[in-house]
Amino acid sequence: MADKGETAVTPDSTAGAVSGAEIQLEGVTKRYPGSAEPAVKDVTMTIPAGKIVVLVGPSGCGKTTTMRMINRLIEPTSGRITIGGEDALKLDDVKLRRKIGYAIQQAGLFPHFTVAQNIAVVPGLLGWDKKRIAERVDELMDLVGLDVAQFRDRYPRQLSGGQQQRVGVARALAADPPVLLMDEPFGAVDPITRGILQDELLRLQADLGKTIVFVTHDFDEAVKLGDRIAVLGEASSIQQYDTPEAILANPANDMVAGFVGAGASLKQLTLLRVRDVDYPDIAMTADESESPSDLRARMAKAGKTYALLVDRRRRPQRWVHVRNLSSVRSLAGVGRPVGDTVSTRSTLQDALEAILAEGGHAVVTGTRGEYVGMIDIETVTGVLAQLREEHENTDGGDSADDAGDGGDSAGGAGAAAEPGASAS
Ligand SMILES: Nc1ncnc2c1ncn2[C@@H]1O[C@H](COP(=O)(O)OP(=O)(O)O)[C@@H](O)[C@H]1O
Ligand SMILES: [Mg+2]
Repeated sequence: MADKGETAVTPDSTAGAVSGAEIQLEGVTKRYPGSAEPAVKDVTMTIPAGKIVVLVGPSGCGKTTTMRMINRLIEPTSGRITIGGEDALKLDDVKLRRKIGYAIQQAGLFPHFTVAQNIAVVPGLLGWDKKRIAERVDELMDLVGLDVAQFRDRYPRQLSGGQQQRVGVARALAADPPVLLMDEPFGAVDPITRGILQDELLRLQADLGKTIVFVTHDFDEAVKLGDRIAVLGEASSIQQYDTPEAILANPANDMVAGFVGAGASLKQLTLLRVRDVDYPDIAMTADESESPSDLRARMAKAGKTYALLVDRRRRPQRWVHVRNLSSVRSLAGVGRPVGDTVSTRSTLQDALEAILAEGGHAVVTGTRGEYVGMIDIETVTGVLAQLREEHENTDGGDSADDAGDGGDSAGGAGAAAEPGASAS
C-alpha cells in the first residue's frame, strides 16, 4: 500500500519526490515487416509520473516491443507516444538517452568494458567531463550496493549474475533519467538474488521517484513491484490496468484470473501490513511483580482464562493459564513461552503464518517489541472479504464472478478466540 512510492508529492522537490515524467501511449501499433498480424495492436495507456508500472503477460504477447517503442529502439508503425508531454518520436538521440534509462535481462553489459566503463557509457555519450563521470560512477555503485574499490575495474564475466544486474541498473540510472525501462531485468538470476534485487529496486525508488516501466512474465514479481499492473494479452491488448490490490481482489476476465493463478488471496496478504488492519487489544497483560492471587482475581473479574506476562518494557514473555496460578507464590517462570509474534510492520502473510503456527492467533508487537494487540484468523479473513467487496463496488456492477459472498465481512475481530486458548 503506502510502501511503494506513495511518498510522491510534487515535482521538483528533492528526496522522496517524483522526478519521473508521465508517459502516454495513444493507439500505438507495431507491425513487423512480413508479419500478417501486428505484434502490438492499438495500445493506449497512461503511465503516471513517479510510479512503477508493470507490464505482465505471456511470452510473445508484445511486452518487449511495447517497451522498446517508448525509447525508440523500435519505431511504431502508427500511434503516438509522449514523455513528459513531449512527442517521443521527435526527440533526438541525446535527449532520449538523457530522459530514458534502459535495463535488460542478463544486464546486457559490454563484455570488454569494466564495470566503471559500462556505467559511464551514457554520461560519456552526453559529453560529461571525466571528473564528473568518475564521481557519478562511484555514487551509483554505492547506490546499487557494489563496493567501489573492489568492483570498479572488474569485467562483467568476473561478476555474479546478481552483481551484473546491479551494474545494469546503475548504468540505466547513470544520467539520472526521469524514466527507467526495465525488461525482465531480474529474469536470469536465482530466486533468492531476485528477491534481494526487487527489494533494492523498491528501496531505490522510494528515494528516486522515477517513472519505471517494468516488464515481466512473473505475476508475483508484478504484485511485489507494481504501483499499477497492466495485464497484457495478445498483441499487448490491455486486459486489466489497475493496482495489484484491485487485480487480485477482482480479476477483470478469465485471462487475468488465469494469470493471477491460484492463491490470489494469499498474494493479497503480501500487500497489507498488520498496522493497516484493525487488530484488537484483547489480551490481559500482567508483569511478574504482580501476585498470582491478584492476577487471578483480575482474570476472574474480566472472564479471562489466559493472561500474557510481559517484561518491564512490556515485551511479551509467557502465557499463563488461570489454573497455573493457584499453586504458585510468584509469577516468575510460570506459564508457556510466547511463540511466534508479529510486528505491526509484518505483512499479513507473515502474520497468517504466525497465527497458524500459534494455533489461531498471534501476539502483535510494536516498534520496540512491546505488546500492542492480538491478531487472529478472523481478522485476516475479514480483511480479505472487505477488499473483495470494495473492489466489487468500485468498478461497479461487475458480473457474477463470486457467489460465495456471504459470511464474514466484519473486518474487525471482536469475536476473536481468547488468546492462548489453544494451549491446553
Ligand atoms: N524483430 C522482429 N521481427 C518480427 N517479429 C518480431 C520481432 N520481434 C518480435 N517479434 C514478434 O512479435 C511478437 C511480440 O514479441 P515481443 O515483443 O518480444 O514479446 P514479449 O516481450 O512479450 O515476449 C512475437 O510474436 C515475436 O515473435
Ligand atoms: Mg520480451
